[in-house]
Amino acid sequence: MRSNTMIVTAALPYANGSIHLGHLVEYIQTDIFVRYQNMTGRRCLFFCADDTHGAPIMIRARNEGTTPEKIIERYHEEHKRDFADFHIKFDNYHSTNSEENRKLAEEIFLKLKNGNHIVTRNVEQTFCENDNMFLPDRFVRGICPKCGSDDQYGDVCESCGSHYDTTDLKSPKCSMCGQTPTRKISSHYFFQVSHFMDELKKLTEGDTLQPEVNNFLATWLKEGLKDWDISRDGPYFGFKIPGEDNKYFYVWLDAPVGYISSAYHWAKMNNEDFDPLWKSGEAEIHHFIGKDIVYFHTLFWIPMLKGSGFKKPDKIHVHGFLTVNGEKMSKTKGTFINARTYLDHLDPEYLRYYYASKLKNSVDDLDLSFQDFVFRVNAELVNKVANLGSRTIGMLNKIKSLDNKLEFLSFSDASDELRLLQKIKSESESIAADYENCDFNLAIKKIVKLADEANLYIDTAKPWELKNDPDKLQHVLTTGINAFMLITKYLKPVVPGFASKVERILQIEPLVWGSYKNSTDFLRNHKIGAFERLMDRIDIKSTDRIIEATRTEAESKPGPGPDTESIDYDDFSKIDLRTALVVEAEKVTSADKLLKLTVDVGGEQRTLVAGIAKDYSPEALIGKTVIIVANLKPRKLMGIESRGMVLAVNDGKTLRLVSPDSPTPSGKKVS
Ligand code: MSP
Ligand code: ZN
Repeated sequence: MRSNTMIVTAALPYANGSIHLGHLVEYIQTDIFVRYQNMTGRRCLFFCADDTHGAPIMIRARNEGTTPEKIIERYHEEHKRDFADFHIKFDNYHSTNSEENRKLAEEIFLKLKNGNHIVTRNVEQTFCENDNMFLPDRFVRGICPKCGSDDQYGDVCESCGSHYDTTDLKSPKCSMCGQTPTRKISSHYFFQVSHFMDELKKLTEGDTLQPEVNNFLATWLKEGLKDWDISRDGPYFGFKIPGEDNKYFYVWLDAPVGYISSAYHWAKMNNEDFDPLWKSGEAEIHHFIGKDIVYFHTLFWIPMLKGSGFKKPDKIHVHGFLTVNGEKMSKTKGTFINARTYLDHLDPEYLRYYYASKLKNSVDDLDLSFQDFVFRVNAELVNKVANLGSRTIGMLNKIKSLDNKLEFLSFSDASDELRLLQKIKSESESIAADYENCDFNLAIKKIVKLADEANLYIDTAKPWELKNDPDKLQHVLTTGINAFMLITKYLKPVVPGFASKVERILQIEPLVWGSYKNSTDFLRNHKIGAFERLMDRIDIKSTDRIIEATRTEAESKPGPGPDTESIDYDDFSKIDLRTALVVEAEKVTSADKLLKLTVDVGGEQRTLVAGIAKDYSPEALIGKTVIIVANLKPRKLMGIESRGMVLAVNDGKTLRLVSPDSPTPSGKKVS
């Protein structure tokens, strides 16, 4: 039986970074699904939260001289604004660092413990004597024990996908200080997921997961289930384990509990019973996640729910990863685009439309190719759909004698008008099924085809030649506008802003699925309002500007996190950094950014060209000690041979030269 209430969640974004176009694949996909469900008359609640805990946030706060709470508060506001501006509408956007979440995480933990699914055991863990802490998975790098790939994280190999312990890693290094860590023994809590083998096997046989995901899971189950370590030693940012002084829940334990606590918090604020939402099974539960976190949502989350008496999800929808112009998103290429950077230049509904046109019910990656993006949005959404509205509504507005009124002459069964409108209506169920199955690409294809047919009808009926036959003209425009209304309805989950504009122009109630079942239900004897501009064409230049802006942001970005590409010490040691004394400085006349410097490096004089003229006058530099890369291959700039490079801090606006903090002779090595 279909239950009327649905709970839908999207994965909780980490609270220490901005939302980017990759994330948006998921949040847009989920939002379209939720909007569709609500249009059918179901009550579909959309819950999410920030995923706040873990070592990276703690370490970042320490580096920035602030607290994790301050960081997560800042991102909470930013995330909420970004989502709202992309028309992603949550019923509640909560935080895993909340009292509800602490209470529920403890409740689940204690139920699992009392059910004898949790054991404690001493384990040897990677410990950095220099930083005086156990090293979190992501802060150790080394060689993958399975496939031998270099420079992998301490928990998972990005090359072969296998999961392991940090102590299994070969030649480990601490990512914070670069030293080789030691090992230390500590007692940890383990969740014995293997107790739930039958449950997980059942999962692979049902329809909760897509077939390809069932296959992954079946493979993991065949490899056998290891106990899952759910505790971390302090210092750690998270919830303390009940009865412990310096041990915390591992972030992935309380993160998915955030789904439930967001629902719980919503129920509390809305005076609703919580049990029907997530306990008694009255509501249907759907999770949307990316393919990278399937492991956590199947092997760990399902046993957690089962073992603690919460309802398990009815569906887990898994999507693939976003590539941009055919490649992995990259900061240096300017394709690691933040939600806000996009919004600074383009309407969010273009991206919603484009993603919808690419999304299918599969874990395949999807590509955002800017050329294709501009082409499709302009050709389909603007030239076909919006144009159908503007050419029909605009004309009706102009013919004063028709008084903005929609009216049909009576339809004859064989008329083009009736055939067109019946055709559009007849697709309703099949498009609905595409939304239901998350095959949005199919829905979009069908809708665009219907828009083609409607435009063809207008081209053939030629309303612009009917000025002397107002009845016929009204009949044609009424047909065109009804067609436009139905098409808008089908697109409404994807472009809700566009649809609400159309509802306003047509002066109709919010469009819902299932209305207008009979031909008598079409809009007739109905007065509409004035046309408003619906949608402009995208200028390809705006996508260039987005890429450019992203590059600039990357250059002025505060600090490298654990996710920036790291280099080996050997690579670093190849760079010969030296102190140098500026003895002469002058402007390079042909280039307004450049200065020509003569520096003394331990008695040797060299010429360097530096792009610092905007921030430093030549006079201000003479007598200054700077740091240079002394072994850079000589390079000609504006005809001057530059032998080395001056180091400066670039915050995206100004440059500031780096120099030793007390007087230092020139030519000294910097390391
Ligand atoms: N915090 C965890 C999820 C906890 S859920 C209990 C996490 N956060 S995340 O910010 O890294 O990712 C959030 C969601 O966005 C994940 O489902 C992830 O798969 C998705 N995506 C992140 N980058 C993505 C792309 N480049 N492309 C598509 N989806 C991406 O994981
Ligand atoms: Zn260290």
